[in-house]
Amino acid sequence: MKKYSFIFLTFVLLFASCAKQSELDKAIAYSDAKIHLTMAQMESVSDSMPRNVLDLAQTTWNLRANVPQEWCGGFWDGCLWYDYALTGKEEVLNAAKETGNQMRYLATAPVFDHDLGFLVITSLLNGYRLSPDADTRAIYKEALLACADSLCTLFNPAVGTLLSWPRHVKDYGGHNTIMDNMINLELLLWAAEETGNKAYYDIAVSHADTTMAYHFREDGTSYHVAVYDPVSGKHLYNCTHQGLADSSVWARGQSWAIYGYTTMYRYTQEPRFLAFAEKVTDAYLGLLNETSEDYVPYWDFCDPRIPDAPKDASAACVVMSALLELQRYVAPDKAAEYKAAAEHMFADLTAHYESGAQCPAILLHSTGHHPAGSEIDAAIIYADYYFLEALYRFNSMKL
Ligand code: GLY
Repeated sequence: MKKYSFIFLTFVLLFASCAKQSELDKAIAYSDAKIHLTMAQMESVSDSMPRNVLDLAQTTWNLRANVPQEWCGGFWDGCLWYDYALTGKEEVLNAAKETGNQMRYLATAPVFDHDLGFLVITSLLNGYRLSPDADTRAIYKEALLACADSLCTLFNPAVGTLLSWPRHVKDYGGHNTIMDNMINLELLLWAAEETGNKAYYDIAVSHADTTMAYHFREDGTSYHVAVYDPVSGKHLYNCTHQGLADSSVWARGQSWAIYGYTTMYRYTQEPRFLAFAEKVTDAYLGLLNETSEDYVPYWDFCDPRIPDAPKDASAACVVMSALLELQRYVAPDKAAEYKAAAEHMFADLTAHYESGAQCPAILLHSTGHHPAGSEIDAAIIYADYYFLEALYRFNSMKL
C-alpha cells in the first residue's frame, strides 16, 4: 500500500511540475512573439527606444529619444538579452548586441542623474553576462566601469547616499535620494567585484545602510523620497514624488526596496540586508493581501478609490523577479511562501494582464507617474523587462 501511495504521489508531483513547465513555455513563446513584433518596429529606428503603449488599438510602441534624461532607455535592450537567453535565437542576439551598442555612449556622457544605473544595468550588464561573444563582453565591461565611475560622482559622503536628482536639489531644499536608487547600487557592487576596488562597494553599502535608517517606517513600508542636508548630512524629511501622499505606500517604490535589498544581500552576504529584504517583502505581501483581489497591486496601497484605482503590473513584475532570487536565501518555510507568491503573480499576470494579438507589449495595466497624470493603466517597457527577467529566473529553477 505504502509503495502505491509513493508511486501515486510521484506521479502527482511530476504532473504538477510538467503543468508548470508547460505554462512557462507558453509564456516564453508568447513573450518571444511580442519581442519579434517590437524588433520589426525597431529595425528602422536607431535613436529611440520603446517606452509605452497607451492605447489598446496601437500596433507599435511610443518611442522616446535615447538620451541620458530618458530613464527607460536600457529596458528594450534588456528585454532582448533575456529573450535571447530564453530562446537562443540568433536574430534576437544580433538585435541585442546592436541595441547594446546604442547604449555605449553613456560611458562618455556626463552623468545626468542616478538613472544611469538603470540605463546600463538593464542593457550592458545583461549583455556582459548573457552574450556568448567575448569581444562584446569586453567592450561592455569597459563602458560599464566608466559608468560606475560617473555614478560615484553623485555620492555625498556627508550624507552617505548617492544624489538621485541633481536638477531637483533646489526644489527639495537638499540632497534628495529616492527609493528607486537602490537598483543602481548593483552597478557599483559589480564594479567592485570586477576590479577589486572596494571604494565602489563602500559607497553601495553606505547608501543601502543610510536608506535603511531614514527611508522606511517602523512597519517596513517605504517613503519615496528622503531629503538630507548636503553639508551636515542630517536627514531632513521624507516625502513622495510618484506616490499618492507623503504618508502613503507607492507600490513600485516598495518593489524597488524588495529588489534592491535582495541584490545587496547577493553581493555582500550581510545578514542585515537579508533580514531587511524579508521585512520589506513581508510589508508588501501583507498590504497586497489586504488590498488586492489578485497578486498585482494597485498603484498605491493607500489609494481610497481601491478597488477602482489603477493597477501597477510593473510593480508585480519587479517583486516576482526579486522573490525568485530572495527565496534562495531564506529559511525553508519563508522560501516556500515567497516561491508560492511568485507563482501566484505569474499565474495572475499571464491570465489577466497579457495584451491582445496586435499589441507589441507583453503586459498591460501598469502605472508610471500617477500624480503627473502620465502612463496610467498603460503598457510600459519596464513591466515587460522584469517579467522577462522573472521568466528567465523561473526557467533556471527546477519547477
Ligand atoms: N524610477 C522611476 C519609476 O519607478 O517610475
